[in-house]
Amino acid sequence: MITLNLNGKDVELDVPADMPLLWALRDVANLTGTKYGCGMALCGACTVHIDGQATRSCVTPVSTVVGKKVTTVEAVADDPVGKAVQRAWRKLDVVQCGYCQSGQMMSATALLQANRKPSDADIDAAMSGNICRCATYVRIRAAIHEAAGNLA
Ligand code: FES
Ligand code: FES
Repeated sequence: MITLNLNGKDVELDVPADMPLLWALRDVANLTGTKYGCGMALCGACTVHIDGQATRSCVTPVSTVVGKKVTTVEAVADDPVGKAVQRAWRKLDVVQCGYCQSGQMMSATALLQANRKPSDADIDAAMSGNICRCATYVRIRAAIHEAAGNLA
């Protein structure tokens, strides 16, 4: 058994220590908002927060996050910054197919938690690891500015 702090609650999961966190989240904890894209830390679809840092859960063994706070998109709106991101995403209708978007929102939230007034260059740097095959990048950037404005 491995005990994880998942979205603010301690949860016991019967998983091997080397299981990728993404599998533990999706297949065992039933938190399916986090998506599998590449499995190789290349696309960002699986991004969650570990102690507030945007992290690729597909390459993170579950045992390495014991004792840390894991936050998934299901709980992103529990945080004021995450809530502002979620609202901006809705207002600007960012989502196209949606597959990449939970990872995008987790990266955007981590960015705004660290930098409340990011420039376009800051946004491009922070979001460069999150790939969107529908190419919603212009709306993502606008939504991050919108969320930042609402947090000011
Ligand atoms: S599924 Fe983890 S980065 Fe692509
Ligand atoms: S909205 Fe379709 S992959 Fe990003």
